[in-house]
Amino acid sequence: MRRGSSVGQVTVGRESITRTYELIRSHIRRTPAIDVDGSDFALDSSIRMVFKLELLQHTGSFKTRGAFANLLMREIPEAGVVAASGGNHGAAVAFAARKLGKRARIFVPAVSSPEKQERIRGYGADLVVIGNRYAEALAASEEWAAQSGALRIHAYDQAETLLGQGTVGLEFEEQDPQLDTLLVAVGGGGLIGGIAAWYGRQDQSRRRRTGSGADARSGARGGTPGGYRGGRNRRGLFGWRTCRRTHVFHRTD
Ligand SMILES: Cc1ncc(COP(=O)(O)O)c(C=O)c1O
Repeated sequence: MRRGSSVGQVTVGRESITRTYELIRSHIRRTPAIDVDGSDFALDSSIRMVFKLELLQHTGSFKTRGAFANLLMREIPEAGVVAASGGNHGAAVAFAARKLGKRARIFVPAVSSPEKQERIRGYGADLVVIGNRYAEALAASEEWAAQSGALRIHAYDQAETLLGQGTVGLEFEEQDPQLDTLLVAVGGGGLIGGIAAWYGRQDQSRRRRTGSGADARSGARGGTPGGYRGGRNRRGLFGWRTCRRTHVFHRTD
């Protein structure tokens, strides 16, 4: 049986996610998982749902896990790190960089929320607002990385990003080993790719993971990880491959 999916030189699977967790553990919050009765959502009361509250994570999203994984596992040059983001990934990279005493430059499109922009600045990163779409911010960030030598931290197409996001799966399984279906928000596919790598192919008969669109405004599309429309990276390849190898189901409804 495969132990994980290879992404470049790095294997993304349970062992590497466990090692990543040990590395980032002291920098992240172990977010709570809460039990909710189906009737709270106009469903049958026999349905039990469990929510993993990553909104309580530092910076407000799971992205902080991947940001720390990148900063702690990769060599950071003098020029620091650079990231393109719709907002959450940028805030996470800025936060992690400040905590670890590294420089960060974050590129966001003009449509990103002013609150997120303020947050990124508040964490001490250089913020560049450019273009109207994520793809334009990504292109500008790559140009700047080439000029400056800064390390690019991709929001989803990067092995360390998947390893960090996969720690959501690790915690969730510890908190509730009985889960039979997982619903995961999908943008570029980093989160679902990491979670798919954690759960792997074990217990296929019992466990399903499904992805659904994360944020229509960001251009994310349900159904396939990595639906950033019109961008150069139309699909997050790393997450997508991991999902295919671990038999993740995709839904668009
Ligand atoms: C709150 C939230 N949920 C889900 C996603 C989707 O994550 P991924 O791009 O790793 O699929 C994002 C991505 O920006 C996000 O900010």
